[in-house]
Amino acid sequence: MEEKPLVNSEGYSREDWQRHYETGDLRWDIGEASPPFVRLWDERKLQPGNAVIPGCGRGHEAVFFAERGFNVTAVDIAPGAALCLRQALKEKRLPVNVVLGDFFEIGPAHDNRYDVMFEQTFFCAIAPSHRDRYVETAFRILKPRGVLAALFYETGEPGGPPFNTSREDVLRHFPIRFDIERLEKTPHSVERRKGKEWLGILRRK
Ligand SMILES: C[S@@+](CC[C@H](N)C(=O)[O-])C[C@H]1O[C@@H](n2cnc3c(N)ncnc32)[C@H](O)[C@@H]1O
Repeated sequence: MEEKPLVNSEGYSREDWQRHYETGDLRWDIGEASPPFVRLWDERKLQPGNAVIPGCGRGHEAVFFAERGFNVTAVDIAPGAALCLRQALKEKRLPVNVVLGDFFEIGPAHDNRYDVMFEQTFFCAIAPSHRDRYVETAFRILKPRGVLAALFYETGEPGGPPFNTSREDVLRHFPIRFDIERLEKTPHSVERRKGKEWLGILRRK
């Protein structure tokens, strides 16, 4: 998915994602919690609390933040992703709730529940037509003044997934529900994403 985007303006179905897990083609997976998030933690920019991670994949961020005192809810639509994360959690006694399902359909029990949401190659994974739904869902489940800590992926490529996410895209969709406290290209990306990731700190209104 990462190096060669598919030209598919409708985005992926659940089955498309699951196929990637069945064939082991996880080309987006960097094998560790994303370094800009690790940096935010090291710089004490984040307080432990209830965290949600949509499109968590194998869950590197879920494990990283649970190990640092967050209560994590990790959501993914692909059974293969949930299975990988549950296996990774088997040996560890960590507060991670793995939810298999569609982030946009997450139930009312999650409303106003989270202090922070971590965005890592999920916004770029969904069809651009779902971006307003993403914003509304994030708004619904975050507490007032909760934080969306995001890495938005500017691929500079047509089609997707991953679908290009520019600064203008962030400014087009989020301000209705979020105050944008920080939005800058991060110098701490993994090598293959250097210069392509916008680190955003967005506060729910
Ligand atoms: C590009 S992968 C990123 C995975 C992970 N965040 C990472 O960076 O390794 C996108 C993930 O989003 C999941 N996904 C796609 N649409 C979803 C939806 N509507 N609800 C929940 N998860 C979804 C896919 O199954 C996939 O695991």
